[in-house]
Amino acid sequence: MPVRSLAGARVVLTGASSGIGSALAAELSRAGARLLLTARREERLQRIAREIDRPAEPVAYVSGDIREPRTRQQIYDDIERRWGSFDVLINNAGVGAVGPFARASAGRLREIMETNFFAPVELTRLLLPALRQGQTPLIVNVSSVLGHRAMPNKSEYCASKFALHGFSDALRAELAREAIHVMLVSPSTTESDFFEHLLEADSATRVRRGRPMPAATVARIIRRGMRRNVDELILTWSGTGLVWLDRLFPRLANLLAARFGQ
Ligand SMILES: NC(=O)c1ccc[n+]([C@@H]2O[C@H](COP(=O)([O-])OP(=O)(O)OC[C@H]3O[C@@H](n4cnc5c(N)ncnc54)[C@H](OP(=O)(O)O)[C@@H]3O)[C@@H](O)[C@H]2O)c1
Repeated sequence: MPVRSLAGARVVLTGASSGIGSALAAELSRAGARLLLTARREERLQRIAREIDRPAEPVAYVSGDIREPRTRQQIYDDIERRWGSFDVLINNAGVGAVGPFARASAGRLREIMETNFFAPVELTRLLLPALRQGQTPLIVNVSSVLGHRAMPNKSEYCASKFALHGFSDALRAELAREAIHVMLVSPSTTESDFFEHLLEADSATRVRRGRPMPAATVARIIRRGMRRNVDELILTWSGTGLVWLDRLFPRLANLLAARFGQ
């Protein structure tokens, strides 16, 4: 399996202001990558850019809502001005909500799909020409184990991550001839601001979180996966077990999800 060098790689990272994204920024910087970070909270991006140790070059950032075409255009313009082309796009920004579908609004579905699916897909479309000109180009899409096996009370989130999963598989096959690699990352529960940022948390719904993995560990595993050019990363044994249970015994997985997943 070819090994990708991240030293000097020009990386665009969304959702960089907290959790997995901020841990990835630190991890990739230590590997010598050059970074363009993006998220809405500008003061956080500023602080993270300042705190990163020994960056290969000053860490750049674009603040804005990734759902907005204007923000995505600003990212494109910044790449053009700064580097001309780039090497790695990491679509990591994401949001969730918890609660039964029947009680949720259409707005909740729309917001989750806009952030977790349409935004990364449209950013990919916009940046693909600049990525094509890069060195061993790579697209990393941060999905979830829930993009392989859906669970109750997270229907919109699961749908958005399944969509990102399908998009990633199709794009990997489409871009294989151009040697642009697509990697799908599926974390399990991770220590981050994710649960504080839920769009809605139905008070009657219990949220099972299990033992979260530190974001720094997730970042380290992703960095290793990027170096080894893997197609798919499922980060925990429990996540891997769940995915295989679903593939081999889907009816049992459905029964268990209905019985224990809520
Ligand atoms: N934590 C988990 O248990 C877990 C498990 C599996 C998968 N994941 C996935 O991992 C990814 C990272 O999440 P996390 O756990 O690190 O959560 P987090 O700490 O809440 O980080 C989410 C990031 O996305 C950004 N973001 C959200 N909405 C945005 C928008 N409209 N425009 C621009 N940026 C936006 C946030 O920045 P601003 O708020 O500053 O905009 C933040 O930087 C997500 O895709 C999530 O679905 C998380």
